[in-house]
Amino acid sequence: MIIKQKGTYDIYGDLAKKRAYVDEILASISEKYNYGYIETPVFESSELFHRGVGESTDMVQKETYDFKDRGDRELTLRPEGTAGVVRWFIENKLYGNMTDPVKVFYNMKMYRYERPQSGRNREFTQWGFECFGSDDVMSDAEVISLAYNAYRLLGLDDVTIKINSLGDAESRSIYREELIKYFKPHINDLCEDCRERLNKNPLRILDCKVDADNDLLKNAPKTLDYLNEESKKRFEDLKNLLDMMDINYEIDERLVRGLDYYNHTVFEVVLNNSYALGGGGRYNGLVETLGGPSVPAVGFAMGYDRTILAIEEQGINIPINDSIDAYILYVSESEKETASYIVQDLRLNGFIAETDLMEKSLKAQFKSVDRFNSKYLIVLNDEELKQNKLTIKDNKTKEEESINLNDLVDYLDMHL
Ligand code: HAM
Repeated sequence: MIIKQKGTYDIYGDLAKKRAYVDEILASISEKYNYGYIETPVFESSELFHRGVGESTDMVQKETYDFKDRGDRELTLRPEGTAGVVRWFIENKLYGNMTDPVKVFYNMKMYRYERPQSGRNREFTQWGFECFGSDDVMSDAEVISLAYNAYRLLGLDDVTIKINSLGDAESRSIYREELIKYFKPHINDLCEDCRERLNKNPLRILDCKVDADNDLLKNAPKTLDYLNEESKKRFEDLKNLLDMMDINYEIDERLVRGLDYYNHTVFEVVLNNSYALGGGGRYNGLVETLGGPSVPAVGFAMGYDRTILAIEEQGINIPINDSIDAYILYVSESEKETASYIVQDLRLNGFIAETDLMEKSLKAQFKSVDRFNSKYLIVLNDEELKQNKLTIKDNKTKEEESINLNDLVDYLDMHL
């Protein structure tokens, strides 16, 4: 038997219905914030993600699905959405004449070779939001508020937004030196990867999964202590705006995020201090890194599968429809022809209708009615049909009525 790959799963049944409900809410909030839909290819050149996300990140070192196609091109399945969206932004020269920001959202599958566990998969979905062209903290606040309100609309009222600032290039370079100074004497207490990271990219030591519980990491210098005046002011301004917007945030001085492209604002959404339900931040250098001009940008991605798990764990009810409106029962060939007409008519009029497709006996059709949890049963009978009539029965009250065939749609409209 061929089985699905580790870290992947099939989406069907109730899960599919729940996802459709969550999609609807997220699409509607994206619209309110005036973000337009975008979809980028599942695979892109490896260079895009390696350069965009950062060669020394765990994601690129250990998690990307890299492969060569039959034309010997080096390709990568997208591990995240931002780099692809930036490629699109540059390729279409959307940076020319930017009088308003370019705002897009996506709902895409991502691929990371991670150790699968609850809420962590190798194929997973992100709903992401990217805003290009504004360096105003107002746009950081907008993206954070979009994230916050999306979780609240889904019923996750207790989420906390953890925020931090990595500062601008100058602040980061001072901070980098401090980290090297701090870690160097203890280099042998760190894992092999971290030893490599020390000179190449010391910030990455802070999100090492192997050394995560090492006190050395916990007590490391904090970014906020190394911000220059301008970066400090930005962070203060952001906090003021978030206060104005009544957003429940916490400062987390240890938050650095696992991707290289961030500067200034970084944030994550958590529930009960467990894993991140989403994360994002400002990435003013990425458009330039990937070959475009210097364009400021900020964004966020929701871990969609984790969010649905959290909704379930919190006992929040996701309304899913588990019934149909009408089931049409028949026996003879001529009743079958009428059934085909009625079921078509009902569906075109907006009702969820079913009839027998398995040449079942009438008794077995009654069992289908219960399995489908049908609100009404329509029993066809040649004698009645001759007078253009049919019998409709309310499956709950068991009351039945003989009505004119032409009145069926009106009848259901009135009763449902
Ligand atoms: P990220 O933090 O790598 O950021 O991913 C965002 C969210 O995706 C995570 O907080 C988590 O909820 C979910 N996620 C990540 N890996 C997995 C996995 N293996 N299984 C299930 N869920 C997962 C980014 O990807 C950035 N591109 C976000 C961003 C957009 N920054 C700016 N714009």
